[in-house]
Amino acid sequence: SAAEKGGHEYFMLKEIEEQPTALADTLRGHFVDGRIILDEQRLSDQDLRDVDKVFVVACGTAYHSGLVAKYAIEHWTRLPVEVELASEFRYRDPVLDRDTLVVAVSQSGETADTLEAVRHAREQKARVLAVCNTNGAQIPRESDAVLYTHAGPEVGVASTKTFLAQIAAIYLVGLALAQARGTKYPDEVGREFEELCAMPDAVARVLSTVDRVRELGRSLADAKAVLFLGRHVGYPVALEGALKLKELAYMHAEGFAAGELKHGPIALIEESLPVVVVMPSPKGRAVLHAKLLSNISEIQARGARTIVIAEEGDETVRPFADELVEVPAVPTLLQPLVSTVPLQVLAAEIARARGYDVDKPRNLAKSVTVE
Ligand code: G6P
Repeated sequence: SAAEKGGHEYFMLKEIEEQPTALADTLRGHFVDGRIILDEQRLSDQDLRDVDKVFVVACGTAYHSGLVAKYAIEHWTRLPVEVELASEFRYRDPVLDRDTLVVAVSQSGETADTLEAVRHAREQKARVLAVCNTNGAQIPRESDAVLYTHAGPEVGVASTKTFLAQIAAIYLVGLALAQARGTKYPDEVGREFEELCAMPDAVARVLSTVDRVRELGRSLADAKAVLFLGRHVGYPVALEGALKLKELAYMHAEGFAAGELKHGPIALIEESLPVVVVMPSPKGRAVLHAKLLSNISEIQARGARTIVIAEEGDETVRPFADELVEVPAVPTLLQPLVSTVPLQVLAAEIARARGYDVDKPRNLAKSVTVE
């Protein structure tokens, strides 16, 4: 009913709007007496100190949350982090031992590939921490420890609020590791946590501008394909933006690392092809920002229609943006939490304009329980 959907035509739009709450609920209770506490933790501080390598294994959108978190965990902990599709990890004989931490990320906790990856990791004696949105699901049951995302039930087949919650949860794992290893001082850990806690408000601000993004979505409904470009944490955001568009709008969409443009993707650019560019902050990452500006000017010169997601007040980007979507300024590692939101809205609105069922895209299942 319309009431169940919070007055929206689709659950997905309601779930997009629930993202500030999903983030706040996922963070709540995890910083007590100046320390990060992982939920229902069965990994001791000593266990965390012993970790010498981290794998994140997941499928679909959850995999993208791992790609985002890699930047933060490596930066905070100085531990090597590998992020792998669960279906690939399981069958390629990964190098694991008891000092390996495997973070298995799954909204449903029932995805067959991720479950098999967990089983394999445990057979190899690795420690497995599940990040899951569903209480008591199979993946947390078979893991050594679990950190729940508290995004609430997600009905839309394409994940939205659980993606943001997963990023927040894996960031908590990263901070817990940094705290145990001493690669960050306690007050630094506290500051990072505080910055995370400011994100629900930042996301709420993005949501107050969705009408304009929806209008933009409608103008893209007849495009044959859309490309997404990003660098650093903007790269997995580009991948997620493209996945959303494939899932919902059945449109050919690809995400690329902007630095790879000249190694292939630029050959795809033609007159009026929409290209979504996820810009880093001009202050936070000036070098990356300058490189992306040059990437956009290249694609614009070749006739692409540039749709730029940029920090509020970033004037330098205006000349290169046919369409500009502004998001609040936040610390670099937290940018995916704001820049993904317009891409979710864009995909949903394009799908709607094309007459598709946003909550139940064809051929897809909410949880894939066969390998
Ligand atoms: C399906 C869903 C995706 C989800 C993926 C992984 O493909 O349609 O939205 O990201 O499964 O699901 P999980 O429950 O493991 O996060």
